[in-house]
Amino acid sequence: MPPLFEKRILCIGAGYVGGPTMAMIASRCPQYQVTLVDINHEKIAAWQTDELPIYEPGLLRLVQEARGRNLFFSTDIPACIREADIIFVSVNTPTKTFGEGAGKAADLQYWEKTARSILQASQHDKIIVEKSTLPVRTAKAMERILNQSGKKVRFEVLSNPEFLAEGTAVRDLENPDRVLIGSRETDSGLCARQQLVDIYANWVPREKILTSNVWSAELSKLAANAFLAQRISSINSISVLCEQTHADIVEVSRAIGMDRRIGSRFLDASVGFGGSCFKKDILNLVYICEHYGLSEIARYWQSVLLINEYQQNRFVKTMLHEMFNTVAGKRITLFGFAFKKDTGDTRESPGIWIARKLLAERAQVVVTDPQALDNARQELKDALDAVEFEPDPYRAARGAHAVAVITEWDLYRDLAWERVYDSMEKPAFVFDGRNILPHPRLYDIGFSVFPIGRPALRQF
Ligand code: NAD
Ligand code: UGA
Repeated sequence: MPPLFEKRILCIGAGYVGGPTMAMIASRCPQYQVTLVDINHEKIAAWQTDELPIYEPGLLRLVQEARGRNLFFSTDIPACIREADIIFVSVNTPTKTFGEGAGKAADLQYWEKTARSILQASQHDKIIVEKSTLPVRTAKAMERILNQSGKKVRFEVLSNPEFLAEGTAVRDLENPDRVLIGSRETDSGLCARQQLVDIYANWVPREKILTSNVWSAELSKLAANAFLAQRISSINSISVLCEQTHADIVEVSRAIGMDRRIGSRFLDASVGFGGSCFKKDILNLVYICEHYGLSEIARYWQSVLLINEYQQNRFVKTMLHEMFNTVAGKRITLFGFAFKKDTGDTRESPGIWIARKLLAERAQVVVTDPQALDNARQELKDALDAVEFEPDPYRAARGAHAVAVITEWDLYRDLAWERVYDSMEKPAFVFDGRNILPHPRLYDIGFSVFPIGRPALRQF
């Protein structure tokens, strides 16, 4: 006899958000049946093996604990929709690349297709949960598609944006700062909201479960990402001034971060932020502001992206300038290609931009990364002849004129840097785009070291 479950939860979209989120719900709520579906058959097949489609610390253990017990994967989307009581939608919502709003607005085609599949397959009332990040007021469009078809099935649409960060997804889901649930403030809206609160209350303390109206929940997600990205652009803008004045950005970050009103997190100057969401969500915010005629507000948020591009550009310009204004024919090794440590995700990674700029300067680019080489090959697939991909950092650095740290993987800090130095061309350069290396020690070994926002250590 199959076990009887209290609720049947479905998630459409088995990616970086859907996979870990459903694994956490299944792990903490064995009384619910949790199913993940996706149009990508390979992904669904991979979720059923121990070679998961994404790298995320702690995720495999979580999946293994629940898989086959109350966590299931399928490509039969209509059948799973029919059975489900609550459907989370976590399909991708990239930036539109065509037509009206191209380059800014969210491309909602996957979202709308999902809404229509839900409508078509449903035979009883359901709660639909927006998990994807969406423009404010998208729930309205979802409701219109679902509830104005003349079908005698009712759908209540909730907004439950996800705040997990990649690399720490399991920890973030296990112990979130908050869970946000937006609903209509009607009887049926409040009842649906309560059902979602009850799911999270299985492991999240009640005081961390916030409820709000739908539009506040949708907008809070865009605003949270915009604020986080803004902090990085702010500290990166100060890093430029540090380099001109011999102030040290690490000392400045520490000094301002100890002010509790500012807080110490997200103040690490870097080669620029990457990832699939910050740029996309800010562009989306800018587009919405423009839609409402708020051009000053749109420009304010756009500037966060401008500083980020400036910082990435500046990194390559420094490399070029310090390496005697030419990198043509020089072997340059990028240490890391993921957009941050502890993930294999390379979407919008600064590494992409930097590799392309270096290739345009006719450098021989070598990429090494412990988790992201497959994705790196995809990102640079039009330049595979010109780029070498090498998992071993020592081999990757052999014969190089320069090493540039793009991702803050711990392993780079702990390398035998004497060995790296001995194998490189001289003079040997290190450009530390993450300020993670022991700079004085590298200088003593013989490197010329160029951090971000800290005094350069030149041998000449
Ligand atoms: P992803 O690309 O990893 O996963 C999305 C999945 O949806 C893909 O596997 C795709 O095949 C599937 N899909 C697309 N259309 C479908 C359809 N019609 N039916 C079934 N499956 C379909 O994307 P992601 O990184 O998980 O992001 C999903 C959403 O969550 C986005 O809106 C993103 O902004 C938001 N978000 C992402 C993160 C993150 O850290 N990646 C964090 C918070 C929020
Ligand atoms: C970010 C947010 O942190 C999540 O809350 C949100 O859910 C998610 O976006 C999303 O909506 O997708 P994520 O992009 O996975 O998460 O990773 P972050 O830790 O935010 O890092 C983003 C980028 O900023 C990385 O390239 C990182 O290296 C960079 N960063 C971060 C800095 O350059 N300096 C810092 O101090 C912090």
